[in-house]
Amino acid sequence: MQSRPWGVLGYALGYDAPPMRILGLETSCDETGVAVFDTECGLLGEALHSQVDLHARYGGVVPEIASRDHLRRLLPLVDQVLKDTDTRRPDGIAYTAGPGLVGALMVGSGLANGLALAWSRPVVPVHHMEAHLLAPMLEPDAPAFPFLALLVSGGHTLLVAADSLGRYRLLGTTLDDAVGEAFDKTAKLLDLGYPGGAALARLALDGNDGAFAFPRPMLNQPGFDFSFSGLKTAVMLKVRSLEKDGELDRARPDVAASFQRAAIDTLVARTLAAARKERCGSIVVAGGVGANDMLRAELARRFDGKVFYPRPQFCTDNGAMIAIAGAFRMADAAPPGTIEARARWPLESLLPPTSDANR
Ligand code: KG4
Ligand code: ZN
Repeated sequence: MQSRPWGVLGYALGYDAPPMRILGLETSCDETGVAVFDTECGLLGEALHSQVDLHARYGGVVPEIASRDHLRRLLPLVDQVLKDTDTRRPDGIAYTAGPGLVGALMVGSGLANGLALAWSRPVVPVHHMEAHLLAPMLEPDAPAFPFLALLVSGGHTLLVAADSLGRYRLLGTTLDDAVGEAFDKTAKLLDLGYPGGAALARLALDGNDGAFAFPRPMLNQPGFDFSFSGLKTAVMLKVRSLEKDGELDRARPDVAASFQRAAIDTLVARTLAAARKERCGSIVVAGGVGANDMLRAELARRFDGKVFYPRPQFCTDNGAMIAIAGAFRMADAAPPGTIEARARWPLESLLPPTSDANR
């Protein structure tokens, strides 16, 4: 009997598993995220501290500053979320073990292991990109496997065939910059601050997206890989020539709109081609760029299947996606002991949860 609304969760845990509360900790980059997810009732509470202001003046994330701030913020956030959710002792503690900044990851990993030791609870190391991929399952209208996942953030651009929990085939990735990085670098050229993806999207609303013909990289190549460095260079050259002619101020919204159009056209064309090849009726979009309105509108217009997203606040990094991923991966939970922190960790190297693989 399936007592939970989350079909896949029931499958992963066993439908008669007792309800569990999982504490999730996210510290892979520049957001400190904490959440408690209950396998019976769903998300009970979450809190986030963003370091964006700390890094803004450097124009990018400074790893040492990130680690120190996680260290300062994480424990008070855990305290707050446990109080808010009336949780005395969770049944398991999930933390982001990678990929990410090693120093930042070690803060979450260290605290997860410390709490687990104090509470005699198991810990679950979570893959950050698998958590992004599972984030739409926090929503009432959750996707079911198999689906195609487009994971688009500041560090990643991945097109993944998600056959089942833990069985992921990488169809395409970026050969150079991540799409979020391209948004951020273009935003920087337009003096929109860092990270400027959302600000660029807002500025683009006032511009003409046909004003400049920027390249749609890779679209004439076979396969599903992406490349954004040529687009970035084309925008940079255009900004320089507009600046020289004293026209940049007037043309800023047009540059933003034309860049956004080229980047989104590329993402959407590749994603639709992959969905056709895989005969996928569902697409999951997650990661920070998944909050982009034009991406959402274009997929809705051009894809005849269903597209699933997390709510915008769970597109970017957060603790809730780590807590639900930890719930899915409870079979991999282990006694505390190893401080796991991996800078690199290919998504396609994951396996289904231990008990699931043996079924
Ligand atoms: O997933 P995320 O929070 O962090 C990483 O793991 O990288 O994604 C952050 C990225 C940044 O590059 C940011 O500029 C971009 O997502 N972003 C957007 C939008 N909102 C955030 N890009 C385009 N349009 C948006 N609305
Ligand atoms: Zn992320």
